[in-house]
Amino acid sequence: MKLLVIGNGGREHAIVWKLHRDDPSAQLFCAPGNAGTAAIATNVPIAAKDVDGLLAWAKENRPDFTVVGPEVPLCLGVVDAFQEAGLAAFGPVRAAARLEGSKAFAKEVMRAAQVPTADDVVVRTEAEARAAIARLGVPVVLKADGLAAGKGVSVCMDEAQVEAALKDMFVDAKFGDSAREVLVEQYLEGEEASVLAFVDGATVVPLASSQDHKRLLDGDEGPNTGGMGAYSPAPAVTPDMMAVVKAQVLQPVVDEMARRGTPYHGVLYAGLMLTKDGPKVLEFNCRFGDPETEAILPRLSSPLLPALRACMDGTLADCPVEWDPRPSVCVVMVSGGYPESYPKGLPISGLEEAAKQENVVVFHAGTASRIGAVVTDGGRVLGVTALGGDIREAVDNAYRGVIKIKFDGAGYRSDIAHRALERLA
Ligand code: AMP
Ligand code: GLY
Repeated sequence: MKLLVIGNGGREHAIVWKLHRDDPSAQLFCAPGNAGTAAIATNVPIAAKDVDGLLAWAKENRPDFTVVGPEVPLCLGVVDAFQEAGLAAFGPVRAAARLEGSKAFAKEVMRAAQVPTADDVVVRTEAEARAAIARLGVPVVLKADGLAAGKGVSVCMDEAQVEAALKDMFVDAKFGDSAREVLVEQYLEGEEASVLAFVDGATVVPLASSQDHKRLLDGDEGPNTGGMGAYSPAPAVTPDMMAVVKAQVLQPVVDEMARRGTPYHGVLYAGLMLTKDGPKVLEFNCRFGDPETEAILPRLSSPLLPALRACMDGTLADCPVEWDPRPSVCVVMVSGGYPESYPKGLPISGLEEAAKQENVVVFHAGTASRIGAVVTDGGRVLGVTALGGDIREAVDNAYRGVIKIKFDGAGYRSDIAHRALERLA
């Protein structure tokens, strides 16, 4: 069995790790991968967004199945290109990946499917934006329509923040083409949760619930990041809530995409605000979450590959998806200076010692190998994940791993899973 995973983050290391664990004899490739994937797979030096390069490699090497991690290649149509070449690949085709690639498109689908979400107005000019803000009131949220590596959303709590966001989007054109259209959106209050689901065009099978921590600092302070940690399950997503999310959000969107002739296959990720009026969608992603995947996959007790194949073949209803009841916690270690600028190439020590801790697995994100050493190579460097008998134990196990690992300027939050712990108390 020859398998290719596209991407180089913690999510992709977790996918490679799970595929290897399910079938140690599988021949694994990761493009471009990191120092963690290199230990169990062959890294292929082709960037995740280089669809032509990936296709050329796959045509020559004929992987039995390819798993696409990040949204950029999905939105560029990597699955369409592979399928045209007779290569099986996991993820939505380009037309379905638009649920993430265009926030305005996602809103239109949600309206057609009567899925609860914040009110919004799509605008193209600063004047139109000001009119919409006057109508919706402050606080308000401004979102670039297209992909912006998680940075295109401004939650504006006051007029000064509104002005700064308008300047970013319309004067400094910080998001380029991605902000040709901008969503002005009603501000929602509540607890956030992510629900990810396997989808095979028609059937929806939610994954174990999870919650990530987007802010850099303890207590949800500081700037937004790509994610500082995650845990699973998220107690806010009770079984009842999960049923509501499936019935009111996931299934209607999947049905609407099928009705349009662009059925959705892959993982559908709903970012939700659990408001007092019920769950409302903040965004859709067309892929596994990062770092949610690092928390979720260690809990998946059934094998991953059959589920991924079933999503593409339309046979998900017949595929078992089973979970380890033990909770998991992933603490992300970042470079000093992240999410702004940060150094690269700093040596990392203690990785083996951390991984020796019971129930701990260290997923690499921004790492590279340099003559026998592992060095930092990105903003989010590692995701230290642990299982535990309860959430408290999982937290303790994860931090027991974290403290073994050292690199200059290393940062991490010390309160991952605090909401779950508060509920426990
Ligand atoms: P998104 O990329 O759309 O998930 O937005 C990034 C973050 O902005 C979310 O995780 C929320 O914390 C926040 N956010 C997005 N939309 C809203 C909204 N309508 N109301 C309040 N917060 C929001
Ligand atoms: N954890 C947020 C994301 O994957 O988009």
